Amino acid sequence: MATVLYDDGVHKCIAFTELVQGEGVQANQFAIAHNGEGMLLDPGGNLTYKHLLAEMADYFLPSHLRYVFASHQDPDIVASVNGWLLITDASIVVASEWARFIPHFCLKGATVGRMLPIPYEGMNISLGGSPLKLVPAHYLHTIGNFQVYDPVSKILFSGDVGASLVSGEEAAGVWEDFNDFLTRGSGDGFHRHYMSGNKACRLWVDAIRRLDVEWIVPQHGASFKGKVMVNRFLDWFENLECGLDLL
Ligand SMILES: [Fe+2]
Ligand SMILES: [Fe+2]
Repeated sequence: MATVLYDDGVHKCIAFTELVQGEGVQANQFAIAHNGEGMLLDPGGNLTYKHLLAEMADYFLPSHLRYVFASHQDPDIVASVNGWLLITDASIVVASEWARFIPHFCLKGATVGRMLPIPYEGMNISLGGSPLKLVPAHYLHTIGNFQVYDPVSKILFSGDVGASLVSGEEAAGVWEDFNDFLTRGSGDGFHRHYMSGNKACRLWVDAIRRLDVEWIVPQHGASFKGKVMVNRFLDWFENLECGLDLL
């Protein structure tokens, strides 16, 4: 079941939180539709491909898929890229650092003329005339890591930042109690282990505070909705010791 995050009739943001079944880590996939044009965010790998293709058709036609955005290069992010390249004309939007690694997921030649590498400082793209900001989040957790900020819905699709290890209905929900995210959602352990160091956290928080973010929606688990929870997350993350700080 898809979750509609935002819908004003022209602009839609959709979350798919239940497509991964079996041993793979729970992962959320997202679609943004504007004026009938579509973008997929972190569509996942073979575990999600055919289900996401079927669900996506409720919002836009495969022939209207303009972009497949990959926040980084992980298997749960974009291992299905070959399938999207074969059946759509979409461009693959990924950090320039990973643009020549992604072809290893694909048939020979499939990525030729189809890659849209994101420069280190980020960039804006247009989806059916609606601007989307590709925000750097380098080393959170990989170099060449980006997030999508949608100024219409004021949602920040934050990739692995803000991720938690909950599944089922809970993954489609929002955190009511921040301590639940840290403990029951394993948010504390996850970020200490997977994020690379406090300097990267601080630089990211500083940049995100300058955007008007109403909702942080990560690629795993539940989300942080409303200014109070968004700021609660930013305040915590800004001071987190992780990765190299703890090595
Ligand atoms: Fe990742
Ligand atoms: Fe992930």
